Amino acid sequence: MDIKQKIVEFDEVNSTNDELKQLALAGEPEGCVVVAKRQTAGRGRSGRYFYSPDSGIYMSILLRPKAVGFDATAATAAAAVAVAKAIGKQAEIKWVNDVLVDGKKVCGILAEAVFGTSAKPDFVIVGIGINCYTPAGGFPDEIKNIAGAVFEPGEGDSEQLRQAVLDQFFALYSSGKTKIAREYRERCVTLGKRIEVQRGEEIITGTAVAVGDDFKLLLRTDAGKVVWLCSGEIHT
Ligand code: BTN
Repeated sequence: MDIKQKIVEFDEVNSTNDELKQLALAGEPEGCVVVAKRQTAGRGRSGRYFYSPDSGIYMSILLRPKAVGFDATAATAAAAVAVAKAIGKQAEIKWVNDVLVDGKKVCGILAEAVFGTSAKPDFVIVGIGINCYTPAGGFPDEIKNIAGAVFEPGEGDSEQLRQAVLDQFFALYSSGKTKIAREYRERCVTLGKRIEVQRGEEIITGTAVAVGDDFKLLLRTDAGKVVWLCSGEIHT
């Protein structure tokens, strides 16, 4: 399946996910990618703000999945693998959707599915934000201990990285969930680690033992239970 990429570039938008959603609602076909040099209201998971200065890549990819079960979670996993492969060996995936280099988060992913009347989404928007360089003046205080950059100053090529991510992403998307899950596990640094996860009021600790083909994380808790996690912030 060869998907035609159509790149729509902006200097500045509120959020590339929101910009692409308008195009999708107007009927834009699968493969459309909105790219911006910066975002004024970049969105992260759990309604958080995503800091999006000039030193990064901000893009959103439109999918209209035909395969049943190719949902926002699968799209998120495919994007994480695509970014990790495009960056190279030094990149690792922290379940569920962070890409790390040297233990620092260099990329965040926010996939959003829009449903009509069927159980399958009408479309999925996969938003990817990559810190190519450390911003002038450094990362803001709230994220300075967890955020990192892919390139050292004066090195690397953001446009090349962006295209490599897109090419990897569409190849993975065409290959299906089983292959994506295999490649995801190979790069998932969470596997085998002791983790802590907040579930409602409760904090559960245990060891991450597997990632399923549906990208759920299997946790063997210290209390001896087995729990499948489908989302949530984990701490390693
Ligand atoms: C996260 O780590 O919380 C997810 C961050 C996702 C950020 C990207 S940047 C491109 C796209 N547009 C947005 O508003 N958000 C996503």
